[in-house]
Amino acid sequence: MIQKDGVRAMHASIKTVAFRGIDTIPVEVQVHVANGLPAMAIVGLTDKAVAESRERVRAALASIGLALPPKRIAINLAPADVVKEGAHFDLPIALGLLVAIGTVPPDSVDGAVVLGELSLHGGIEPVSGVLPAAMAAVGAGLDLICPQKCGPEAAWASDLSIAAAPDLMSLLTHLRGGQLLPQPRPELLPPPHDAPDMADLKGQETARRVLEIAAAGMHNLLMVGPPGAGKSMLAARLPGLLPPLSPREALDVTMLHSVAGQLPAGGLIQTRPFRDPHHSASMAALVGSGARARPGEISLAHGGVLFMDELAEFARLVLDALRQPLETGQVVVARANHHVTYPARFQLVAAMNPCRCGYLGDPARACTRAPDCGRNYCARISGPMIDRFDMIIEVPEVSGRMLLRDVAGEPSV
Ligand SMILES: Nc1ncnc2c1ncn2[C@@H]1O[C@H](COP(=O)(O)OP(=O)(O)OP(=O)(O)O)[C@@H](O)[C@H]1O
Ligand SMILES: [Mg+2]
Repeated sequence: MIQKDGVRAMHASIKTVAFRGIDTIPVEVQVHVANGLPAMAIVGLTDKAVAESRERVRAALASIGLALPPKRIAINLAPADVVKEGAHFDLPIALGLLVAIGTVPPDSVDGAVVLGELSLHGGIEPVSGVLPAAMAAVGAGLDLICPQKCGPEAAWASDLSIAAAPDLMSLLTHLRGGQLLPQPRPELLPPPHDAPDMADLKGQETARRVLEIAAAGMHNLLMVGPPGAGKSMLAARLPGLLPPLSPREALDVTMLHSVAGQLPAGGLIQTRPFRDPHHSASMAALVGSGARARPGEISLAHGGVLFMDELAEFARLVLDALRQPLETGQVVVARANHHVTYPARFQLVAAMNPCRCGYLGDPARACTRAPDCGRNYCARISGPMIDRFDMIIEVPEVSGRMLLRDVAGEPSV
């Protein structure tokens, strides 16, 4: 396009994505540089993180010795009616500017989905959602440009050419055909080494057996027992009994953790998640919400276990919010202008005392306010919620003699 003064207006467009749950929506970053008062505006239903991108992009370009032209720069994130959230738009915006001012050849970025956050000194920082973006790129027959640290995560979306760059300078060199960036390799996240072992548990044969059956069949389990009976101890040993994730499940679990920004080292999660939120957790923390409609604990437990210790201490509203996801295996997080659906198919394991003081039915330390103490305490959990448990077991206290066997040098049971 030739302007009145004979100067060519400069355009560029870069492909990226916005996230809806673990799904992606294609977004085009359109850059238009024209004569006029120097200014830079970013439009297209953006959130605060995208608006702040202007300063990060300007500083990152300056750090590699590139100044923005003193012109009127308009950046549009299309389609304009889709909400754009997150800092991953920094890199496509910066590349769009570099193409528009002629620093990067357009055909080097035309066929790629780009995402990454910029630091002020030109580094490309890891962002959430790289695996879903990589899968979207494969689906559209495109390449991927992403932060170096997210490369191993992206590499799990097979048949994809990935440029995973540590900083803007090395990406520019790669795009101009200089020193090429190596293809990242798919990585597995190492399984946690410090998982507690069933061997620490003395006695409790029935509870052990029930835990094994629950683990094998992904059955929802409620353990009821006095303080110190070993309920929390039993639950903590559940991850060691769970079967491995299938490849499809591993991808889904990794995508959820990626979108939630909880995949720090990149790579594929291969062990089933075990989430144990505190009983003071809010509904938003549990079912997902917040400004960016992030997945909550029940979605992070997808494919694994949600352990709710001291079940009766959770707020009643929070407990009731679990009923629908327990039935449908997914949760709908409502926002002011849209809603997001996350998978939430998890095994619910819970533990609680039989009454407020904990000793209802204990012959040695009888509950002084029985039976009301137990009745009122159990009434905190609604009937339909209790109905969601496939197995409810009593976990009695193991005798002190049995617990002391190791100390006395006798073999443990
Ligand atoms: N069967 C057992 N074998 C070995 N240690 C046990 C056993 N039961 C209880 N303990 C010991 O008692 C401690 C308390 O157990 P735990 O916290 O699991 O009890 P709990 O049933 O969850 O109690 P609360 O209702 O107070 O939460 C454990 O850390 C462990 O040291
Ligand atoms: Mg406990």
